Amino acid sequence: MAFPQSRPRRMRRTAALRSLIRETELYPRHLVAPVFVKEGIDEPVPIESMPGQLQQTLESLRKEAREIAARAIPAVLVFGVPSRKDAEGSEAWSPEGISQLALRELRDELGGDLVLIADLCLDEYTDHGHCGVLALDGSVDNDRTLERYARIAVAQAEAGADMIAPSGMMDGQVAAVRWALDDAGFPDTRILAYAAKFASTFYGPFRDAAECAPRFGDRTGYQLDPPNAEEAVREVRADIEEGADMVMVKPALPYLDVIRHVKDRTGFPLAAYNVSGEYAMLRAAAANGWIDERRATLEILTGIRRAGADLVITYSAKDAANWLA
Ligand code: PBG
Repeated sequence: MAFPQSRPRRMRRTAALRSLIRETELYPRHLVAPVFVKEGIDEPVPIESMPGQLQQTLESLRKEAREIAARAIPAVLVFGVPSRKDAEGSEAWSPEGISQLALRELRDELGGDLVLIADLCLDEYTDHGHCGVLALDGSVDNDRTLERYARIAVAQAEAGADMIAPSGMMDGQVAAVRWALDDAGFPDTRILAYAAKFASTFYGPFRDAAECAPRFGDRTGYQLDPPNAEEAVREVRADIEEGADMVMVKPALPYLDVIRHVKDRTGFPLAAYNVSGEYAMLRAAAANGWIDERRATLEILTGIRRAGADLVITYSAKDAANWLA
């Protein structure tokens, strides 16, 4: 009988040995926590399809952000849920819009201790629920939407955002936001581009959280088609050319190969968004006792990091940071 020449198992025998050859690190500093703040509520409202997540009041948001920062999570991604919507989504750029109020509260509460990333989109603010303004035929008008994105970016920067994250997948959105920020005297406000955002069914629970499901049609006319990885790399390259400081792939789990392609081929700082539907699946299985929530969460986050993401935007950020502490 021939015995094996190589014995990799000997390096797996103890935790100390395994740590000697560990290739991927997962720390709280790799995580970004999304937060939802809703206008016109007195108490935080639980989001049914995302157990453990809340629509915050301005007051409860302060406390939540302090807890996030205390766990050494470096950044939050802020989503506003307005009480008034219209065809153009004008609350999105109003200085008194809920997202701007939230950014001011957070800046006031935490100073520079937490990086404030503002999601920039129109779907939470439009009465039809699309990510831009509509043309007469009901499609989203790209260039008229860019004019609105420019206004929103400036309003968010004025309110104290460190980083603006345009998420609507309009062509030229990064260039439009960069130009507007520079022109308004915010050359140091950074851009995290939702560069490769796929038309995914895994955004379902988020649309409850942000109250932004489209009233008609879907987002396949502007978000990426799930089979396309090369097109995703082209989108990322375009956003880098337009001035993005960081790029994003979204969702994470069905697109780990895209994360790897983007990292290898651009070398750019990269975030992956572990989205609402991915979180909901995990929580549902855990609630049924079908999966060990802690181990599953850490395995998922490690896998996304191993695929090449520098940062993981995840609703599990606080839990994971607790477990990693
Ligand atoms: C658009 C936006 C969406 C998400 C983040 N920004 C929804 C969409 O494109 O329909 C989804 C995030 C998630 O599912 O966790 N403003």
